[in-house]
This record gives sequence, C-alpha cells and structure tokens, in this order.
Amino acid sequence: MEKPLSEHTKNILGLQLPTDPRWVNLAEISLEEILTDHAYCEQKAATTCISLIQKNSEKSLLVDELSPIVTEEWGHFRLVLAELKKRNLQLGRQRKDVYVNKLIDFQVKGGSPDERFLDQMLIMALIEARSCERFKRLSEGMEDAYMRKFYRKFMESEAGHYTLFINLAEHYIDKKIVRKRWKAWLEYEKELMNSTEVRGDRIH
Ligand SMILES: [Fe+2]
Ligand SMILES: [Fe+2]
Repeated sequence: MEKPLSEHTKNILGLQLPTDPRWVNLAEISLEEILTDHAYCEQKAATTCISLIQKNSEKSLLVDELSPIVTEEWGHFRLVLAELKKRNLQLGRQRKDVYVNKLIDFQVKGGSPDERFLDQMLIMALIEARSCERFKRLSEGMEDAYMRKFYRKFMESEAGHYTLFINLAEHYIDKKIVRKRWKAWLEYEKELMNSTEVRGDRIH
C-alpha cells in the first residue's frame, strides 16, 4: 500500500511526488548496485560543492558554508565504500545519471548571473531533498535493521544540506524570487519523477 509522505516531511522537502513504494524492495535486492550508485552520488555531491566554491569565490558565506560540506560528502562516500567492502561487494562503474541530467536540462541557459546562481543552488537543494526522501524510504522500509539505521544517518545529513542550499539562495537572492523559482523546480521534478522508470539499481 502506498504510504504518503508525512505532512512534516512533505513540508520540509516540498517534494510534490513521493517515491514509488516498490522502489525500496527493488533497491534491497540489488544492494551492490544501490550502494555503488549511492557512493557516486556522494562523490558528485562533494565535487559539485568544490566547483560551486570555485565559481562563486566572491560569495564568502557560500565558501564558508560549503567547505565543510565537501568534507562531509566525501566522508559519506567513504562510509558507503566501507559498507561495500565489509559485505565483499564491488564498487561498480559510474552510470549515466539520467535524473541529474534531466534536472540540468531545466537549468536556465544564458540568463543573468543571479538567475544562473539561483538555479545552481536550487538544483542542489532539489537533489538533496530527493536523496533525503529516498534515504527516508530505505530507513523505514528495508528488511535489514542495520541497513535501516545506516540510511537513517544519511537521511538526516541530506535534510540539513537541503536547508543549507535554500538558505544560501535566500541570502543572495530576493526571497520572493527564490520561492517562485523553487515552485517551478518542484513542478518540473514531479513530472520528471512521474516519467522515470522505477529501478532498484539507482538512488534517483
Ligand atoms: Fe551526502
Ligand atoms: Fe548532501
């Protein structure tokens, strides 16, 4: 039975479409693939934060706030890697990230520096929000109690990151503009989720 997101989580994340409940079962039976994909998600989060610092070096709050996130995301990567090792599983190859590529399609092309910056923050907020929602699903729905606890920790971290990117957007850009664009992103992501195949070998 489809369990809707709690009002609380929905309010925090703003996501318009909860993950298909079949996904958790699929993910659980493809643990090597899901851990591999998760590992690369964490790696990409770290490298994207580095590149955001490089592209926005004049924004000192952003530099201060994102520097520790790089370390944290890299720490997440290492945690997932350790989990693979412990289970005698192999870190596989990085796959094409359809979800993120489709989100990039929605990013403003051209536009003013502020518009581009805003989308850089919102795409990150959205990926963090969806990752958080997916980790929440795993932390609630997996059979293995150890894995439920494992994903709970990631869920909490990514919720914090989601908030951070929204806050950074609102620090540099008028809140009304941020809210309007965020709504458009949420709508787009809902359609994207609706039209994406449910697969257990990927986080998104
Ligand atoms: Fe992370
Ligand atoms: Fe994160």
